[in-house]
Amino acid sequence: MKKKITTATLLAAKKQQKPMVWLTAYDAGAARIAENAGVDVILVGDSVGMVNLGYDNTIPVTLDDMILHTAAVVRGCNTPWVVCDLPFGSYQQSPEQALQNSVSILQKTGADAIKLEGGKHMLETISFLSARGLAVVGHIGLTPQSVHQFGNYKQRGQSSCERQTLLDDAVAIQQAGAVALVLECIPAALAATITEALDIPTVGIGAGKSCDAQVLVWHDLLGLSENIPPFAKAYTNLGEQAGAAIAQWAQDVREGKFPTS
Ligand code: KIV
Repeated sequence: MKKKITTATLLAAKKQQKPMVWLTAYDAGAARIAENAGVDVILVGDSVGMVNLGYDNTIPVTLDDMILHTAAVVRGCNTPWVVCDLPFGSYQQSPEQALQNSVSILQKTGADAIKLEGGKHMLETISFLSARGLAVVGHIGLTPQSVHQFGNYKQRGQSSCERQTLLDDAVAIQQAGAVALVLECIPAALAATITEALDIPTVGIGAGKSCDAQVLVWHDLLGLSENIPPFAKAYTNLGEQAGAAIAQWAQDVREGKFPTS
């Protein structure tokens, strides 16, 4: 029987060069499916705002939204390590604000770790949380909570100066105590350099095959997204299948074929 995944499992997997599988999920049923499919880590991403709550970006997602969805995920699975995103505005003010909201998430949901976006400017907060026993996952590269600053969701690390900043940030985030680092939408060669430079696992999304783990958004993987990013792959088309099933049922109701008696 598979054991509960812990930080130690993730570090050991990196040493053994065993790729780990992360997937986003936002409710108990999805968490159960992911666990049964062998997913190692479930990330309750603030992408929930875009894929489930109908927002244009992740900015409107609240702490209460994250707590609701993360608690459901934790109830739905046993062995995956569960990571909850700190939503926009819940951690940028001060390390103390980040601690208070992280504690609230961990106590109310049973999640194993929190994730926050940002490089050097987040080091003090990562260090503050890590020193107090929290498992912190960093996130650099394309950081969707900064969409208004960048004005787009394009690949980061396109200039050599930006690539050096990202490498420096990655090393500093590890030194500050993070236990894993998400690399979103950066050149594969840069992700490979960062992965080589770090002892903690890197988790790639649009960052090439050299990362220690890969993560995808549930809706992209299953063909439920309206716009799938170029680096993702839909392994099935649940959106079309669900639409066809609903249309068939509706037709049966209208033609008196359902229920059958
Ligand atoms: O919110 C999210 O789903 C994420 C992943 C894209 C890494 O942060």
